[in-house]
Amino acid sequence: MNEVEQKRKLMQDALDALKTQKERNSMGQFSTPYPLALEIMRYMRNLLKKKDVSFIEPSIGTGVFYSAFLNEFAESTKRVLGFEIDSHYYNPTKKFWKETPLELRQANFLDQEPDDLFDMLVANPPYVRHHHIDSDKKVQLQEKVLKKYGIKISGLAGLYCYFMILSSAWLNENGLSCWLVPSEFMDVNYGTAVKKFLLHNVELVHIHRFNANDLQFADALVSSCIVVFRNRKPQKSSKIKFSIGGTINKPNEIRLIDGSNLKAESKWTSLFQGNVVNLESQVTLGSFFTVKRGIATGDNDFFIVDKETIEKYEIPHIFLRPVLPSPRYIEGNCISSENGNPVVSHPQFLFSCNLPEAIIKKNYPKVWEYIKFGIEKGVPKGYICSHRNPWYSCEDREPAAIVIPYMGRSESQNKMFRFILNKSKAITTNVYLLLYPKPEYAYCLKNVSLLNEIWQKLNSIATETLCQNGRFYGGGLHKMEPKELMRTPANEISTLLEPKSNGQLSLFATA
Ligand SMILES: C[S@@+](CC[C@H](N)C(=O)[O-])C[C@H]1O[C@@H](n2cnc3c(N)ncnc32)[C@H](O)[C@@H]1O
Repeated sequence: MNEVEQKRKLMQDALDALKTQKERNSMGQFSTPYPLALEIMRYMRNLLKKKDVSFIEPSIGTGVFYSAFLNEFAESTKRVLGFEIDSHYYNPTKKFWKETPLELRQANFLDQEPDDLFDMLVANPPYVRHHHIDSDKKVQLQEKVLKKYGIKISGLAGLYCYFMILSSAWLNENGLSCWLVPSEFMDVNYGTAVKKFLLHNVELVHIHRFNANDLQFADALVSSCIVVFRNRKPQKSSKIKFSIGGTINKPNEIRLIDGSNLKAESKWTSLFQGNVVNLESQVTLGSFFTVKRGIATGDNDFFIVDKETIEKYEIPHIFLRPVLPSPRYIEGNCISSENGNPVVSHPQFLFSCNLPEAIIKKNYPKVWEYIKFGIEKGVPKGYICSHRNPWYSCEDREPAAIVIPYMGRSESQNKMFRFILNKSKAITTNVYLLLYPKPEYAYCLKNVSLLNEIWQKLNSIATETLCQNGRFYGGGLHKMEPKELMRTPANEISTLLEPKSNGQLSLFATA
């Protein structure tokens, strides 16, 4: 690291330290580590192969990319323009680089109109989530994207999506644009607009993903990727590079994919590894199962009760249903049953009652005491309870024979996204997803050995396949929504289940 960079880094740390995490979050102020900035700049130099380069940085912070640019393009600088909105960073940065060619403007980059065109853009844009964007500003930005690019961008899109799209107006024809952004745009719905832009408005060159556990910004806790595109219409013959692991200059794995095989609506994270699958033509878990979230009680501390509370308030069994404890208390992947109750180390029950208060007061005075305790705690005022009548009556739900925790950590000792066979009558809260066979496959619930086989086949689905359909949140955390689980390829199951009409069978009965 050269001396100038060492000084810049000290300035960066000092400025960051003067802000709270919350302030930095709301303005997306997490800086790029210099080694990564240098790696990116080297990559750009090799790709650009040009003398006299003009470079634009739309969200410059203290200028880590500029510092790397000086290192790599020292002999070939034509013009460098940077934008920074926040005077906290702008003023010291302006002073720091004053003897160098950098032109710095204090402005909201998204409000600017180009007064010149550039050969290269490199940015780590502010990762500002949609709810931190002023609503009038958001509408204005959405209109701008629609008008200029014909793309409708969701209100849930983070600020970085607008940066990626709108900044292309500052690029020369063939100009290169490089973005260090969260990978989530490749998976979530709001990312469709960005993917449309990358597929149709410009020529997508390369997306490099870091390894899931290799967080680029420890303090921002997002998994990141580098997106590189060229400012020209996509060429028919060109292939897009998808690489993962290692560095952008030396990835661990590379795949070249024809852009015409890609859809903006599909999830792209599955493209980095394994065989490319056409999810639309696949047999998926949703072909056999309806997946639902477990119930949202409105206040688990109140509605999920243990034996002690049951005894203390003499809660009769008619107001109780067994519930599965948190996945961390479940050892192994099979829950046996004793009179319908799960055999677990922390037995728990859902308290739910739909009798009117007057009857509870009269017939179950101790239960009434418990309800009063809930009122004192403010339970009925919560969103879910305030929309229920009576507030202490929870949703009725059939137990599911197969459940899966909706969240998993890659470093956890349990297999991530394990399917649990639930032989009991316990229902679950929303920390689990529940798999209910579709009516034509419900016969499997009556056949213990078949159900066992299905459960084992489900657990043989590769963790990567499940992760590819879920969401990655950084720090090794993965989550799965019911729809995402239903979209998971499940050819394994089609060898076991043939559809059968079963008018007589109870859909959700357990074996
Ligand atoms: C993620 S930081 C990156 C800073 C620097 N480029 C780096 O990589 O370390 C984003 C920077 O953009 C600035 N910023 C946020 N919104 C902006 C806007 N609308 N226009 C220009 N800069 C903005 C923030 O203050 C912050 O310094």
